[in-house]
Amino acid sequence: MADAVKLTDAYAPKSPEATRELYERWAESYDTDFVEAHNYEYHHGVASAFLAAGGSTDLVLDVGCGTGLVGVALRSRGVREVHGFDISPAMLAKAAEKTLDEGEPVYGELAEVDLTLSPTQRDRYPGIVSAGTFTHGHLGPDSLDNVLAMAASGGLLAIGVNSQLFNDEGGFGQWLSDAAQAGRITDGRVETVRVYADGLGATQDNDVGAANASGTVMLFRKA
Ligand SMILES: C[S@@+](CC[C@H](N)C(=O)[O-])C[C@H]1O[C@@H](n2cnc3c(N)ncnc32)[C@H](O)[C@@H]1O
Repeated sequence: MADAVKLTDAYAPKSPEATRELYERWAESYDTDFVEAHNYEYHHGVASAFLAAGGSTDLVLDVGCGTGLVGVALRSRGVREVHGFDISPAMLAKAAEKTLDEGEPVYGELAEVDLTLSPTQRDRYPGIVSAGTFTHGHLGPDSLDNVLAMAASGGLLAIGVNSQLFNDEGGFGQWLSDAAQAGRITDGRVETVRVYADGLGATQDNDVGAANASGTVMLFRKA
């Protein structure tokens, strides 16, 4: 078996290339060794927050879609079409395998996209959701500009950010107030959701779990 990937590894990458390499290794075991083993449920919390806030049920982009958990959560709550972007081809391949009960693929489109770069697809999506991608060692608030550019005017975004990062040094709250002040977004607010069903986080095998047991969901509309 390949070396197990732990949360400490997941929080370590320092560049998009290092992130891609990590997830190329992790893709095969992510749904079992991480999601199932730790009762990970962040995707449900973010999907529910998005829809409760009036998010689109027509077309939603899942940024940092990974193996497709957010897509499944959205489709099972009635969203008709979900697209997914991710930097890791191996994670995208896992997302492509996800199907609804009747065999229809969960994702209508999947594409390899580095969210640290200015996007080619702009002003397209009436809804954008993300879970687990704005966290330690992954994406910072600068990438929110790229994600916002992909949204259609008036579209709702629900972006899950690691709460420790949001509260301590991440700069995400500052991004939210700056963007509102500049008139680029409206209706900005945050909610907290559970990342693990037991509320404790990935435990025993590392010491970062409990401190990262909640996610802050940034909710806002593109002006
Ligand atoms: C912890 S996983 C979360 C995956 C999925 N959203 C979930 O809920 O399970 C983080 C994902 O973000 C992706 N990612 C990290 N940096 C990225 C970047 N610069 N551009 C696009 N995707 C990125 C990784 O490849 C990985 O699939």
